[in-house]
Amino acid sequence: MMSKYINVINNLNKLKLTKIAEYLPGYIDAHKQNDLTLIDILYELTNKELAFRNERAFNINQAVAALNSDKTLDNFDFEFQPSINKLEILDFATLRFINNKENIVFIGSSGVGKTHLANSIGIEAVKQRVSTYFISFPRLIDNLLLAQKESRLEKALKLYSKYKLLIIDEIGYLPIDNQGANVFFQLINRKYENTSLILTTNQPFSKWGEIFSNNTIANAILDRILHHSHVINITGPSYRIRNINNLDRKDESNQST
Ligand SMILES: Nc1ncnc2c1ncn2[C@@H]1O[C@H](COP(=O)(O)OP(=O)(O)O)[C@@H](O)[C@H]1O
Ligand SMILES: [Mg+2]
Repeated sequence: MMSKYINVINNLNKLKLTKIAEYLPGYIDAHKQNDLTLIDILYELTNKELAFRNERAFNINQAVAALNSDKTLDNFDFEFQPSINKLEILDFATLRFINNKENIVFIGSSGVGKTHLANSIGIEAVKQRVSTYFISFPRLIDNLLLAQKESRLEKALKLYSKYKLLIIDEIGYLPIDNQGANVFFQLINRKYENTSLILTTNQPFSKWGEIFSNNTIANAILDRILHHSHVINITGPSYRIRNINNLDRKDESNQST
């Protein structure tokens, strides 16, 4: 009997059912006191194994996607930013837009929550095992230009276009030259009507000609991005300096009393 038990534990470990191996002793003890059927026990043990695997897969995918685990939808204070339609964001979180191969563009000044929202939708995608990647615009352009220089642009474009969701953060903080605009256009062209993008920018579309140092390319890029897209304009205060705003408000209320 004893050796059979040890064999079972060994077999479970060999099959890499490590959570079942870990919890089995407890269930054998519980079995004597509670009236758990064999099916009840198998159900709970297999659920524990699956939950463990899902969590591990999620953690790995989240790290691979380069997402920030702190910037989630749960941590986003919608009351602070009333210009954002919470229901629209929750709809994005269902990933319907990825199914429809649509894009999302967050526009707004610094600190209004663009990166946080883009990241949190990325986390929802990873939870559903959608291949996702988060990268800043300057880094993306640098990587593409380096790839071009080393004659492996094709491979790099393929890499970035394979993601079902590519999040490109901070378009517009730094202008890029013609060559940079050109490789970005090639990427957008590949992703167009194929997979989804989430973009964040601090610049209205009318300024994109300046970002890309070229009106024609900027228009071609915008044309493709905006064809199937949700544009979210965030007009509100910066969350980063909310405490300063609170102080202001306090002063105002003090004055009025
Ligand atoms: N409504 C909000 N609720 C909670 N945290 C927020 C909110 N808006 C912004 N933040 C936080 O404030 C900081 C700036 O937000 P971020 O998304 O980086 O702004 P942006 O990308 O628009 O410049 C981040 O740390 C972010 O997590
Ligand atoms: Mg940002």
